Amino acid sequence: MTSGRSFYITTPIYYPSDVPHIGHGYTTVAVDTLARWHRQAGDDTWMLTGTDEHGQKMIRAAAANGATPQEWVDKLVAESWQPLLRTLDVANDDFIRTTQERHEKSVQLFLQAVYDRGYIYAGEYEALYCVGCEEFKPESEIVDGAGPFEGLKVCAIHSKPLELLQEKNYFFKLSEFQDRLLALYRERPDFVQPESARNEVVAFVQQGLKDLSISRSTFDWGITVPWDESHVIYVWVDALLNYATAVGYGSDTEGFERRWPAHHVVGKDILRFHAVIWPAMLMAAGIEVPENVFAHGWLLVGGEKMSKSKLTGIAPNAITDVFGSDAYRFYFLSAIAFGQDGSFSWEDLSARYQAELANGFGNLASRAIAMVGKYFDGAVPEPGAYTEADLAIQQIVADAAAHADAAIDRFRIDEAIRSIWTIVDELNGYITLNEPWALAKDEAQRERLGTVLYTCVEGLRALAVLLSPVMPQATAKLWDALGVSGALGALLEQPVREAGAWGGVPAGTKTGALQPLFPRVEQPE
Ligand code: ME8
Ligand code: MG
Repeated sequence: MTSGRSFYITTPIYYPSDVPHIGHGYTTVAVDTLARWHRQAGDDTWMLTGTDEHGQKMIRAAAANGATPQEWVDKLVAESWQPLLRTLDVANDDFIRTTQERHEKSVQLFLQAVYDRGYIYAGEYEALYCVGCEEFKPESEIVDGAGPFEGLKVCAIHSKPLELLQEKNYFFKLSEFQDRLLALYRERPDFVQPESARNEVVAFVQQGLKDLSISRSTFDWGITVPWDESHVIYVWVDALLNYATAVGYGSDTEGFERRWPAHHVVGKDILRFHAVIWPAMLMAAGIEVPENVFAHGWLLVGGEKMSKSKLTGIAPNAITDVFGSDAYRFYFLSAIAFGQDGSFSWEDLSARYQAELANGFGNLASRAIAMVGKYFDGAVPEPGAYTEADLAIQQIVADAAAHADAAIDRFRIDEAIRSIWTIVDELNGYITLNEPWALAKDEAQRERLGTVLYTCVEGLRALAVLLSPVMPQATAKLWDALGVSGALGALLEQPVREAGAWGGVPAGTKTGALQPLFPRVEQPE
């Protein structure tokens, strides 16, 4: 089924200094949905996620918990970060940890190559560092502290005091890449998406770039600089390289060539690392830059970015335990325009669960399948002549499928779902208008009844295929109830780009009972 067209997509690798919250889950389910869509379209798809385990943040978190950094990350990764993927029904192809040997060795090869090409030099440095960001902060992100931090300089993102660091470090000649980066953004306007993110990056680079400190010598929790054992590699340089090392950079040339370049999806907090530093590092090593970098917005709590450091994180399973993983995925991916900030609220989640999932999609599926059961003994009826209303539904399905695919191409999952949802809304309206229960009372309308229900079943087939990347569990139940796997094959093998073609379900297909898709939930406090 694989077409050979490569689609390699990544999430950020998260810091396992603490447990995940719904913001990490948001990025991960977005990337999983894009990957599932492409996989189902037959593209040669690979989804990578993982954990970023070095750096000062990890040393401090471990110490605060009476553990070594390695013990701490081993525990958090095994008990929280890997289980998160199961909680959210994520079908990642790989999980990279930056403490793995496959990564560490290749990072050293990469850095040595950049060093040999003359882009690294030794120098002195003194600047304000944020351990939360693991970054020397630019002027624009240094603000005056308030409350307990009155009189101190703090990070604009973390609101915690910055630390003045002075060291002898190795530097990467980032400043030499200004023109090449600006040319890249100009020649490939989609390299950074959305538009607002692109504008921010272009403005930042236009101001001029400073060389980047890429090593540290005051601690040893990191990957050793290959030509100087007294330094470890700066955690961000180590971390960004995961995208290359995981698919074979430095170890498997053929694998690397098959997958690379990648599509990176990140939160806007780490846009600059991905859209400025990372392509410059790749250029310095003579490697192709990524396909694109898409920066989504923040989940906000009280108007601020939800974060572990501010203790505003909500655990993903607080949502999935009540509503299930499909609802988690659907809610965040449909309710927030991908690329913009959004505020989470339990009220909004419950309201959408009830209106869109239970009453909208769930009710449509259960009504239609129940009527095929009741009026046709569970055998999908043969459609008769199509009326204009039926043809209108066929057109809606075709358009929804085409628009959704185009939206996915632009990474706009929210728009894709909105297009697909026109099928739910229109079919519900179609049932109300055509009153199959009334047609069923009149033997002379038998053929019409069959056409109406066939139209519903076909709409459900398209919905199952199109929504499977978003809601793998509900659509699998629906596929089962439609009884089509004999005739059409497994749901995950249905080519998503052809979902809009009418007439896939053969008449006579034996439908079965539909498990409740979105059961009534007990409201949390
Ligand atoms: O930055 N809203 O890791 P991290 C939306 N290790 N998304 C959010 C979010 C929020 N409130 N909070 C976090 C790091 N995220 C580095 C990355 S990559 C080479 C290294 C998501 O654990 C979002 O994707 O701080 C954000 O970019 C990421 O988690 C940051 O995770
Ligand atoms: Mg962070």
